[in-house]
Amino acid sequence: MQYKLKSVKSPRVKGKTVLLRADLDVPFKNGKVEDETRLNAWFETLDYLVRSGAKVIIAGHLGRPNGQEEELSLKPIVNIIAKRINSKPIQTTLNDFKAWKLAENVFILENLRFFSQEEENNEEFSKKLVGLADIYVNDAFASSHRAHASIVGVTKFIPSFAGLHLLKEVEVLSKILENPKRPLCVIIGGAKIETKLPLVSKMHNFADFVLVGGEIAENTKVLLRVQHEKLSGKRSMLLVADLTEGGKDITQKSAENFLQVAQHADTIIWNGPMGLIEEKEFEKATAILAEGLVSLKAYKIVGGGDTIAFLKRHNLIEKFDFASTGGGAMLEFLAGIKLPGLLVLE
Ligand code: 3PG
Repeated sequence: MQYKLKSVKSPRVKGKTVLLRADLDVPFKNGKVEDETRLNAWFETLDYLVRSGAKVIIAGHLGRPNGQEEELSLKPIVNIIAKRINSKPIQTTLNDFKAWKLAENVFILENLRFFSQEEENNEEFSKKLVGLADIYVNDAFASSHRAHASIVGVTKFIPSFAGLHLLKEVEVLSKILENPKRPLCVIIGGAKIETKLPLVSKMHNFADFVLVGGEIAENTKVLLRVQHEKLSGKRSMLLVADLTEGGKDITQKSAENFLQVAQHADTIIWNGPMGLIEEKEFEKATAILAEGLVSLKAYKIVGGGDTIAFLKRHNLIEKFDFASTGGGAMLEFLAGIKLPGLLVLE
């Protein structure tokens, strides 16, 4: 196992207030939450805490707001959670934080990234957060590669533990990292170039085949340099997709080439769509790839909000062996990078 994490089940939580860091960063389509996988992930932990007699304050982020952007308010997510627990959310404040009361013992804070101090991992801000609770639980695997206040900063001040879903992610991904069935094929797509580009080169030390599509394939110059470095010495193979005219998808040929390579793998890890799948006309290559992958016998892991939403929409998600809530977090974990949010829970 890559980490020895302290489980949420180890402390006595009865009568305590728990700050539960959850993954709330879900994909939206036409103003509506498109996929609730990330919300399902931490529900077991919430349920466990409430049943064990704790008061729970849920906290998390949505998107990358610049200040307080109305369209990145957590309100739609609050409504989904309220529906699940049969409650009507009431707006309130908890110290300085705008929040909603969902039940006598369940609260949720507004988007933490409305405060710039969250991403700065500001100590005063972390203290304000822990001022609300006695215990901290992180069940937000998808955010655990970020050294932010609600992931790292708070753990300095109150006893901190790993949630049930986080433990499961670490268990499954540790097995892959420690002993993958080879050949291992990693497919990287999507946007978030600054997170993913460094991972492309890191993956070379780990995977046998690295296939790159999506927006990051556009950054050919850097990728070619990486490819060149590869050719001079290491054994893994890098294939960068060609983009269609306008650059909003990869070509059908590239998707087919990817499948040709992937069929030789015994383990396949996929994160990130190949094109701008928010628009139907640019989801062609992602669909070809997804349909081809599910027909392969390899052990298949998929990660990331948008990729999972896409596979659900096409009824293909069940054909993957494991769906990680993490996009960047999953890739960093598998690239052997120690995640700051996990290190502090050891
Ligand atoms: C994700 O979607 O990968 C997480 O929510 C982290 O989001 P970020 O890349 O904006 O930090």
